[in-house]
Amino acid sequence: MSASIRPMRGAFAGEVVGVDITKPIGAAEVAAIEAGMNAHAVLVFRDQPLTDEQQIAFTVNFGELENYPSPGHIRRREDHRLGPGIADFSNLDRHGKIMSAADRVWFFKLGDRLWHSDSSFRPAPAKYSALSGRVIPSWGANTEFADMRAAYDALDARAKAEIANLICEHSLIFSREAIGFVDLTAEEIAAFAPVRHPLVRRHPATGRSSLFLSAHAGAIVGWTVPEARMFLRDLTEHATQREFVYSHVWKPGDLVMWDNRATMHRARRFDHSEVRDVRRTTLAGDPPLVATAHIA
Ligand SMILES: [Fe+2]
Repeated sequence: MSASIRPMRGAFAGEVVGVDITKPIGAAEVAAIEAGMNAHAVLVFRDQPLTDEQQIAFTVNFGELENYPSPGHIRRREDHRLGPGIADFSNLDRHGKIMSAADRVWFFKLGDRLWHSDSSFRPAPAKYSALSGRVIPSWGANTEFADMRAAYDALDARAKAEIANLICEHSLIFSREAIGFVDLTAEEIAAFAPVRHPLVRRHPATGRSSLFLSAHAGAIVGWTVPEARMFLRDLTEHATQREFVYSHVWKPGDLVMWDNRATMHRARRFDHSEVRDVRRTTLAGDPPLVATAHIA
């Protein structure tokens, strides 16, 4: 049996069947999955009980792992629960205990409940992210995805013309500030100096234009901050209407892979007294291509 992709009912995401990603996969499977990513931008793989090593091995079929040192006081390397190459999106500390809700590491994680694109605050934002569900709480904790291609397509001609050449500034500080987490050190503020990206980006493989929105975007070059924030908020509201959204209900053993160049996502609430253990591998991307599509 070979890998094939079936559209998920009522959603833009696809489900991959006929492949065991706990084992090395061949060139034909890689090509089929890549084609599926270009078509759907979010792919779901069910019943894949991955180890960290297997998850990394699967992910690097599609590019190079993102590798950035995080400023030391967010979480020092020796305080990490997992090894290099895989990011810990659990609510556990390095001893495997549920972390305090007052832990600033937890404050950073809470910011992921705002709609965002991974690493949009980096000069070269992420390509794909792959999230593996290991332990899933009994309630909540869905991950929602919004299709930024469809959101762009649905804009009227006037809006498309208005945003065609806009440049946004992205910083992790903007998204943390939005949830009232402003207690950042000088080192953190320096580490997360804003970077600039076009608001409309073109996908390098499909050529499709999409909205490059993210909670990390907090300014538009040449605009006042209040005007920019309100406009970005309006665009985000447009782009995350239910018709553009797929909500993933996790089961242990799911792996969901998404293209950050064509989607936004957000984590949803769960009971903090229950363990949520999800682990992410992330592929490095290139600086966004500016969309050059003609505006009707
Ligand atoms: Fe994320």
